Amino acid sequence: MTKAADVFKLKNRNNVEVTFIGRGGQITSINVPDSKGSIADVVVGYETIEEALAGDGYFGALCGRYANRVVKGQFEIDGEKYQLECNNDQNHLHGGSDGFNNRIWEVEAYDTNKFAQAYKLSLTSKDGDQKYPGELKVEVIYGLTEENEFVIEYIANTTKATIINLTSHAYFNLKGAGTGTVEGQNLQLNASKFTPISAEIGTVTGEIAEVKDTAMDFVEPKTVGEACAADCPQVKIVDGIDHNFVIDGYDGMLRLAARMSDPESGREMEVYTDQPGIQVYTGSHFDGSETGKLGAPIVKWAGLALETQIFPDSPNKEHFPNAVLRPEETYKHTCVYKFII
Ligand code: BGC
Repeated sequence: MTKAADVFKLKNRNNVEVTFIGRGGQITSINVPDSKGSIADVVVGYETIEEALAGDGYFGALCGRYANRVVKGQFEIDGEKYQLECNNDQNHLHGGSDGFNNRIWEVEAYDTNKFAQAYKLSLTSKDGDQKYPGELKVEVIYGLTEENEFVIEYIANTTKATIINLTSHAYFNLKGAGTGTVEGQNLQLNASKFTPISAEIGTVTGEIAEVKDTAMDFVEPKTVGEACAADCPQVKIVDGIDHNFVIDGYDGMLRLAARMSDPESGREMEVYTDQPGIQVYTGSHFDGSETGKLGAPIVKWAGLALETQIFPDSPNKEHFPNAVLRPEETYKHTCVYKFII
């Protein structure tokens, strides 16, 4: 049986190394060399596993059953109404206060020639867990390739119709966690549309808007700082970016969603997914009160979460992608974080 503090490592020939723990499948570090071979840990978090277990439980964790928000915690399937916990003001966030980030996943080595090294993480969520219908069996593969791709593959099945949206919640700082903010790092998104938010609703309004002429326009690369500093109502609501982007050309196949790069170290990462959306979050709630890696305070905009997903509140928005999983179906989701070295 895996324990909360059990540590697992994936390593390839190029010295890329991913470390995670049993609780939440939480990624606690990703070491990546730059072009000169100088290695930095590119995910925001704590120095020790003890601190990780006691601290912000979303750092690098697997989120579910429904990552992101469900408005008022309510949804309906086949005429049956469900009420989830509202653990984020008036809304439900990341599967509730005892979400998958908080669970101890069963971890075992996963043998396949697709990866340099891989692990399988499994979890069974009981019928009614966090008030979601159906028993949900989830398997997540964490795999590292010799091409410096950290691959996350999700598979899930349910015994009753339910809703599902699994994601991974690592905050990336390509210069290295603890070296300051990501304001000077570049972001490019394969997204000409996004889903605007409202302060009153606390998440998406249901609108799908063009990014053109807004701070949300990352079609051409620009710095995260430029967007965060923009005089734009959408930025003001969340003091940065905390938005879902609609991936262009979505067809259920793996495609480029985002590219992030750090001009100082030259480190670059591409994100690929088969999901319709990606939540970009600048970590605006970090206030420097916690000490993280390199003994530095975890400050506002210290990292960028790039969470591949179905859209927020999809269960209540007819025109958003489907988030309902039925017993005869299998939920599948792949996300690739590829480090360009
Ligand atoms: C959400 C943020 C939320 C954070 C919690 C992100 O996925 O987009 O709004 O504050 O998770 O860690």
